[in-house]
Parts: sequence; structure tokens; C-alpha cells
Amino acid sequence: AAEAKVVFTPSGKRGAFAAGTTVLEAARALGVDLDSVCGGRGICGRCQCKLSEGDFSKFGVKSKTDHLSGVNAVEERYKSKRGMKDGRRLGCQSKLLGDVVIDVPEESQVHKQVVRKRAEVRNIEIDPAVRLYYVEVAEPDMHHPSGDLERVMTALNEQWDITGLERADLPVLQSLQKALREGEWKITVAVRWDKKIVHIWPGFHDKAFGAAVDIGSTTMSVHLTDLQNGEVVASVGAMNPQIRFGEDLMSRVSYVMMNPGGDQEMTQVVRETLGYLLSQAGLEASVDVTDILEIVLVGNPIMHHLMLGIDPTELGWAPFALATNQPVRIRASELGLEGKTNPGARAYFLPCVAGHVGADAAAVVLSEGPQYRDEMTLVVDVGTNAEIVYGNKERLLACSSPTGPALEGAQISSGQRAAPGAIERVRIDKETLEPRFRVIGGDLWSDNEAFPETVKRTGVTGICGSGIIEVMAELYLAGVITRDGIIDGSLAAKTDRIVPEGRTFSYVLHRGEPEIRVTQADVRAIQLAKAALYAGAQLLIDKIGKPPERVVLAGAFGSHIDTKYAMILGLIPDCPLDMVASVGNAAGTGARIALLNVKSRDEIREVITRIEKIETAVEPRFQEHFVDAMAIPNKTAPFPNLRK
Ligand code: FES
Repeated sequence: AAEAKVVFTPSGKRGAFAAGTTVLEAARALGVDLDSVCGGRGICGRCQCKLSEGDFSKFGVKSKTDHLSGVNAVEERYKSKRGMKDGRRLGCQSKLLGDVVIDVPEESQVHKQVVRKRAEVRNIEIDPAVRLYYVEVAEPDMHHPSGDLERVMTALNEQWDITGLERADLPVLQSLQKALREGEWKITVAVRWDKKIVHIWPGFHDKAFGAAVDIGSTTMSVHLTDLQNGEVVASVGAMNPQIRFGEDLMSRVSYVMMNPGGDQEMTQVVRETLGYLLSQAGLEASVDVTDILEIVLVGNPIMHHLMLGIDPTELGWAPFALATNQPVRIRASELGLEGKTNPGARAYFLPCVAGHVGADAAAVVLSEGPQYRDEMTLVVDVGTNAEIVYGNKERLLACSSPTGPALEGAQISSGQRAAPGAIERVRIDKETLEPRFRVIGGDLWSDNEAFPETVKRTGVTGICGSGIIEVMAELYLAGVITRDGIIDGSLAAKTDRIVPEGRTFSYVLHRGEPEIRVTQADVRAIQLAKAALYAGAQLLIDKIGKPPERVVLAGAFGSHIDTKYAMILGLIPDCPLDMVASVGNAAGTGARIALLNVKSRDEIREVITRIEKIETAVEPRFQEHFVDAMAIPNKTAPFPNLRK
């Protein structure tokens, strides 16, 4: 029979096949990464590829249009129904007739990489916890009796080479027979990495989502993510309702100690909010509940325990024992999420690093990868507690530091979460002391002008964490705030922006309804928070004995923060400014990585065992560093990079 040589790009894999072999078959035989959900039936469109043009004599092949079979009826139908880019062909329908070079575009690769915006960060290879497989199942036969489920398993084995499947959960069995008949023996099966059938849909089904959940003590967020291409389809957030039981972590633990059953109350409210956020995200992205197949959760140890319904009391005192330092895998329904996810969905908690350093820190490490780097990297995840990791590929240290929620905008007179209406950027004129600012999503404007168009809808509602950092740093640069953090009342003679408030002074940032002020108490709260953060970081730096070459600021508040201002205030240790990055919600990104790539779960579990855990509470140097760091930027530490 005639032979056709084929080379696949970009992999460079090549081989020779009998004329008439489909491109998909050839790709499979060569181990080329070409996707397919429908198993070559011309339904899913995942196998799209392209005949490369040009001179391929170096490969010994020609690549002529007529070396690939013409568009058949199946491909025609797909094309007219769902459309295809120019030059694209369905790999499962086009047959090799002569020598060709076939290009597999990124989106047709199974292990496609989700490219992240910041170039320095590694990409996520998609290898999700749950995959979809379309199969055609044999009809039941009285003469060869076998169960419907068993024939589904046979079909998965024959058509997809899937072996060793485990028994299905009850909800799958309950819906299986209807789905098979409704789909006329054609179904789509969701199979989890641990060989468990999660769900069965009649006919072809192409939607699979997961949720990455970050449970902060102050704010919670859910990123609903497409498991097949890694795209975040909706991100929603809310305040953590446990705040009413105590603003910071320790007051929540105290609440449990003083109120029997208090842990259950907190478990219940946080689970309800998670359920609500999942519904919100689903609504926003028009994603059906049954298409949410997996959840990954991260949070500090106390949030982790409370979400799981574990009494966190032991985390309230030394030796800060965790219930477990391993990942926790349960059914989503065990978190009270019935009706919020697919009944077969599982929830996966990343492991906590130590009694004070949570699964959120684990997620940040997964996202930022200091364990791969040569440079000494300081990663700070700012939340109600700052979780701090320092080191490089040789050695990693971690601790947490009680910053309190001020950096997230809580405990600040006009503070709010980073949401529309919040001031996030501030400039203060050094002469007139007049402010200009920008609310999230809007333009910079002067407080003396009318609202720009972009702000009219939301108005100005408050100030978020990054806004507070900027306004404080700008007030310091303008000489309104002293090195010791005192708002200078003598300037009241010069501007009516500075007003007395009790025995101290405040700065009026925005005149309007509501009026937004920076009070002396606000400045104090930020000083305490930044001093705690700095002291924790400096403690780890002392232990390693080398200064940071790279600083990564993470946290919900960090997404908008200008790193220059963080350094002016002395929030972070000195470091070349171009080596300081603010990366936003890295814990959420880490959770997303664990959702999209199951191997990363083992990887982070292994890294965590190597991290040395430092307990700030028992380190005498912590207090010294803290006291020094109350000054702006710092009483003792020089900041040579700031002068540049
Ligand atoms: Fe599904 Fe080709 S493999 S359309």
C-alpha cells in the first residue's frame, strides 16, 4: 500500500503510515499531543490542525494540499454548525494521502499551557483533575447480560484505553440508565484522575469547570475555571462572614473557647458564603451547577480547620498543632455544598505548612515557585496574617506574622475591600497638599473637580488596602506625616485638608458623601501592620543571612499596590525596585494551578515537607525588628535602593 510520511509541528514527531490513516490516528500512534473529547467522531472540534505550507525538503516531505483528503460530510457538518478558522481541518476526519507536515495549534494540544500574564512566572500545564470522554456504548443484550455501567466501562476501555476504573458513586448509578437511553447509547463521561466516574451526560457534552477557592480571614474569593482550557470564567468575592465573631484570627479562636459550639457556628456561616459565591460565579458565567466537578480550597490554618468543621482551639496556643499537615480530600457535599456543585464533585484542600502558616502559603509557593530559583526570594502573602516565605531552591523558610486586617482595608475609618468605588491610587501635591486620586477602574482626577464619567456610577465609597499604602506614603513624602507616623497638626494653618479630630489630626482625602479621611488611628493601624510584616520578613532574612534579591508581594490587596510605595513605607525590606513584583491573589492562582494540574498537588506536598517553619512568637529578635519598623520607613535599616 502507498505510504505517507508525516511530521508534526511543533513537536517534531514524525512517522510513516499507510495512506488513508487519519491525522488523529497518526498523532496518537506517535504520541503527539492532539486533543479529542469525542474520540474522532467529528463532534468536539478539539482535534483541529493545519497543513503546514512551505518547503519541507529538510524533513523529506512535501506538504501538498492534495496530500490530505478533502473535507468529508462529517467535517462539512461540523464546519457549518460551529465554524472553523481558515485552513483548519479536523484531524479525525482528514486522511493522509501523501507526505505532509501538520501543525498542531496551541489550543488543540491536550497539555496546553495557560500562559500567564507576567512573563517571569512559569506556565500552567493543563492536566486537570477531571476529564471528559465521549463514548458510544453497546446496547444491552439479553443473551449477553451485563450491567449498563459495565458496558460504559468497556466502552471507555475500548475507545479511550482507560483501565482500572473504580466503582461509580451512587448518584452516577442513579442517573446512568436515563442518560444512556436519552443519549441513544452515546454519552459523555467525566472521569477523575483517580479513575472514578464523576458524572455521565447524555450525548456529547463539552463543559467541565472547577472552582479555586481562597478563604481569607477577611475576604473570600472563588475563581470559576474552565478545566479544559484553564480560563477563569468568573471571579467573585465576599467578606468572610466570620468577621462578626472576631476580626482577627485569635479573636475567632477565643470565640470558640468562650462559646461552646462557636466553631460550628463559624463553620456554618463560612460554608454558606462559599455556597453563595459558587452560585454567584455560576450565574455570572452561565455555568450549570452540574458542570462544576472539582473544588480546590486554600486558607490559613484556622480558616482551613473551620471550613472543614474542625475545632481550631489547638491552633490558639503553643505548640500550635494542626489536625493534619497532609492534603484533605473529601466530597464537596461534605462541606454542605449540595446543589452548588455536581453531586460527584470532590473538594481538595492543599496542605497547611505549619500551625501558623497555612494552605494559602502553600498555594502561594506553588504559584510563585521560589523553590526553583537561584535568587533569594521573599514572598509575602498579605492577609489578616502575613504569611512569609523566604529562600531559594536550596533552602526555604516560612513564618506568619500578625499584621491584622488593616492592609486589606479593614479597621481603617474609610477602609473597604478592593471593589468598585474604592480609592486605589493617590497623589498629593507637595506644595498645596491637594490630592488627586483614582478609584478602581476609573481615571485619576483632582478632588476639586466633578467626578469623571468612569466614577459617576459607583461614586467614591472608601479606600482599599493599596490606596491606604499610597496615601500614607504620599502624605509622608509631602511632610504631612512624620517619620514617627504623626499627622502634623501645625499644617492645619496652611490647608483646610488637615482638621483636628479629638486630640489628633486627620487628613481629608475626599470631600463628599461619604467624606473620606485618613485619621491618626488609621496611620497607627497601618504602622502596626507594616511593622509586623517587616519584622517577620527580617527574621527569616536574618536566619538565612543573605538579603533578598527578589520580593513578591501577594494578597488580594496586592493586586493594585504600587511596590514603590510599599517600600517608601518600609512594608518590605530594601531590594532593587525592579525586582519587586506585586502579583495579586497568588493564593488563588496556586489553588487554580492545583485545580488544573493534578501533578502539582504532589509537587507542593513534597516542597512543604522541606520548608523550615519559624515561630515568630518565640523569637526575641522579632520584637526588636518590630519596634524599629514602626518608623517610616524604618528606624535602623537603611533603604539604599530608595535613594536611587
Ligand atoms: Fe472530536 Fe475530531 S476528535 S472532532
